[in-house]
Amino acid sequence: DAVDVQALVKNHLFTFDPGFMSTASCKSSITYIDGEQGILLHRGYPIAELAEHADYLEVAYLLLFGERPDKTQYQDFIKLVRNHTLVHEQISRFFHGFRRDSHPMAVMCGVSGALAAFYHDALDINNVAHRELTAIRLLAKMPTLAAMCYKYSIGQPFMFPLNKLSYAGNFLYMMFATPCEPYEVNPVLERAMDRIFILHADHEQNASTSTVRTAASSGANPFACIAAGIASLWGPAHGGANEACIKMLEQIGSVDRIPEFIARAKDKNDPFRLMGFGHRVYKNYDPRAKVMRQTCYEVLQELNIQTPLFDVAMELERIALNDPYFIEHKLYPNVDFYSGIILKAIGIPVSMFTVIFALARTVGWIAHWKEMYNQGNIKIVRPRQLYVGHEQRVFTPIDKA
Ligand code: ACO
Repeated sequence: DAVDVQALVKNHLFTFDPGFMSTASCKSSITYIDGEQGILLHRGYPIAELAEHADYLEVAYLLLFGERPDKTQYQDFIKLVRNHTLVHEQISRFFHGFRRDSHPMAVMCGVSGALAAFYHDALDINNVAHRELTAIRLLAKMPTLAAMCYKYSIGQPFMFPLNKLSYAGNFLYMMFATPCEPYEVNPVLERAMDRIFILHADHEQNASTSTVRTAASSGANPFACIAAGIASLWGPAHGGANEACIKMLEQIGSVDRIPEFIARAKDKNDPFRLMGFGHRVYKNYDPRAKVMRQTCYEVLQELNIQTPLFDVAMELERIALNDPYFIEHKLYPNVDFYSGIILKAIGIPVSMFTVIFALARTVGWIAHWKEMYNQGNIKIVRPRQLYVGHEQRVFTPIDKA
């Protein structure tokens, strides 16, 4: 049962729960996780079934509107998203303000925040239709911005969206097409990309989603709130883990070096952790990691790639899952363990991995923002603290001390 918060406040009591280990910050009906059992449901549907039978835009509709679309609603939704894939031409100038070698997540924070400047004065967040338009705009524009980040970093011209393609296909096109050469989207890679988007779409009150909700609780511009979410996602303990994980697999290099890294992960004097392992909520196999492993296998087969990275990952997983330390600590592979191998095989550079996570998670962030406003009666997020500083002291002016 929920704690009677009003009564606690009245009695000047509050809980001390750094990291929100056991504190619910909101009510939500979007995503359900049972970490002990390894269950993840979006609006009641298991993630594995969504990844198998739906595409990202159907899942996006489900997250945003609460129910799956019928065929007409689905087609209308696709059309609506396609109408908003372009970004304002002036946005392209923002890219040119960044150093070419900037980390793409730094650029994403900047350009997504800059959208607030384009959609602010006319935006009324208390109006349901405006909120829905905001959600569509963000969903539609994120792949365009993400691909622009990549093109800018390699000095190629930005590609306009090709709206006859699917959401994932269009993203691959904007990433890899050039004005000089035609680009054919490989359907296996398109499906893999779409699955990666689905598997990252939402995950209830993780650090970045909570950040978006916290920023939004003051009534801030939603595009700026998404930029805050992107900043929070960047860290290696959160979305940055996919980048850190592939770097770790590369560092391990071959199966025979795994025991050395397992030993380091268990050594409390060594800050090293197995990246892509462990989760605050899952104390069982992350259901997203299972789909990711299968997709990884399919992509490597399609591209006929034999990579030691996959062998290292499979063996690392096998050894860790049989190791008493990992069993006792309930540490299993998470969503980021296999995603990097897929992205790398598709040809996406490591520095773009977290950008792709941000792109996919945007729908979750905006679904939570929308839910918060639809619920109404928003309380500004204002945690208390446990003060551990000085008691009141006498101030002596500096020239009298
Ligand atoms: N490798 C080795 N030991 C680990 C790992 C790991 N990856 N993760 C947790 N542990 C150990 C800790 O050392 C600690 O051990 P102790 O109790 O003996 O001191 C215990 O497990 C609990 O760890 P905490 O950090 O307290 O767990 P928390 O729930 O706060 O952290 C987190 C979860 C941040 C995901 C952690 O498991 C981690 O750092 N994993 C690696 C990074 C990663 O993959 N992040 C992606 C998460 S999924 C996502 O954001 C999409």
